[in-house]
Order: sequence, then structure tokens, then C-alpha cells
Amino acid sequence: MTNSVPQSAAADYPCGSTETTKLTHTPLRPFGRIVEAAGGGARIEDLPVERLVRWTEESRVLVLRGFQLLTEREFADYARRWGEVLRWDGREVVDLVVQDNPKNYLFDSGDVPFHWDGAFADADPRYFFFQCLDVTPGAGGETVFCDTSRVYRDADDALRERWSRISLTYATDKVVHYGGRVTERLVTQHPATGLPVLRFAEPLAPETYKNPVHVTVHGVDEPEAGDFLAALAERVHRSEYCYAHDWQAGDILLADNFSLIHGRTAFTGPTRRRLQRVEVV
Ligand SMILES: [Fe+2]
Repeated sequence: MTNSVPQSAAADYPCGSTETTKLTHTPLRPFGRIVEAAGGGARIEDLPVERLVRWTEESRVLVLRGFQLLTEREFADYARRWGEVLRWDGREVVDLVVQDNPKNYLFDSGDVPFHWDGAFADADPRYFFFQCLDVTPGAGGETVFCDTSRVYRDADDALRERWSRISLTYATDKVVHYGGRVTERLVTQHPATGLPVLRFAEPLAPETYKNPVHVTVHGVDEPEAGDFLAALAERVHRSEYCYAHDWQAGDILLADNFSLIHGRTAFTGPTRRRLQRVEVV
């Protein structure tokens, strides 16, 4: 499932110093864009970074298909062209695979609720990149993105006013590459566009998720906190705000970590899926 819509536009872009590669742009629903390179041999380094930044900020999710995957070193070095690369326990590239006995829910086969990346990091990533090295087709594990700028856009004045008074504290033990305690306002501004966006990570209950995340709401009366979180979760999961990416091996995906929150559907069976991720501040 790529949710692709029929209209597409093809254009030639300079790719490398001597060749020209045909790129086909196809919008995704309800947001996002796939750019496919003819011939399968294109390299991401040959596209100007400014152009990819623009496409990513316009589309929120940019999928590159038909581009060569990068080695781990090349992937981190490429990301450095966009900005500082975040390190997690010293590593710039995080391998996302399902493990047999994981300590943390990210490496389990269940769902991953919505969050933004870097909540517990010192720096705030602007973008994150994935490359997909392997998949098991039909086994679930779609990455789901919610465009929170659209959620905010569609909220009425009373709800926006309520949200403006809310902040949330997230707390989790550091079991893998992240952890700690952080308080963030629910509504913040996108650093490039200035548009209001929501920073919301869904609570992770200890009976369901390994390495749970506890969420405390500030700005609503304590008895209402549960209902507030449930209503917000229901809203950000609405289909008009969400794009689910069904991975193909070879996909490179660039995402805007400020406009979006993201999660993953559960795997429905054994999977070989392997993603690598880097975060750019
Ligand atoms: Fe994430």
C-alpha cells in the first residue's frame, strides 16, 4: 500500500556531473511524495541538498525509490550535508530490526505508538532519514506519519486555545539509546515555516509495552487528564491526517520531524525487515 494517487509529473534533473536521470514525482495521500528514479542507479548525493530540503518540507514525507542504498558510513556522511547528525550512545546510525527478546518496544513486533524523535535527546532533530535494507512483504510494520500541522489547522478556536495552555511531561527509563524526563508544550512552531505544530507522544502502558513512557498532563484538571489524552490520540489517528508507508527494500525516506509525529503498525508475522535511521539536527 503506497496510497499513491494517479497524477504524477516527470522531470529531468541533473544527477551527477555527466548524466541525466529521469525522476517521476507521485503525490501520496493525504500527504507525502514519492520520487522515483528511472534505471535504479541514481544516487541521493547527486541531487542538490537544497532541493531535497524543499521537497521534504513541502511534502513532510519524501520517499526516494530507485536510488542506491548507502553504506552505514555513507549514510551518516550524507546526513551531515543537511546538518549535525545526532549520536545515540556514540552511534550515528541506528539499526531498527525486530529482536527476539527486546528490552524496548521499538525492537518488539508490536505496534509503536505516535511520538516524535529526539524527545529525550539534548538536541532537537529537524529531520530523520530511513533506508530500508530488507522487508518481508505483507507482514505489517508500516510506518505511520501524522501531519500535526493539519490537525492544528482543522481545530476550532476553542480547542486551539485549550491546547495552547497544555504542556506534557514524558518520563521513561533509559534501557536502550534514549530515556529520561522531559516537559514540552503541546503546541510549538515549526522552525522553518512558523506554522503551529503539535508535539505529542502517546503514553505507553507498562502492561502492554516494554520500557513504558509515562505521560503527565499540565493545564487540565487531574481527573480530566485521561480523557484529554484519549481525545487527542483519537484526533491524531484520523485517516485524513495519516500516511502509512508500506516499505519496499531500497526505499530511502526523508521526514520532517517537526510537522510530523510517527509510529508503526504491528508486524503480523515473522519479518526480515531492517531499517537504518539517522537524525539530523
Ligand atoms: Fe521514531
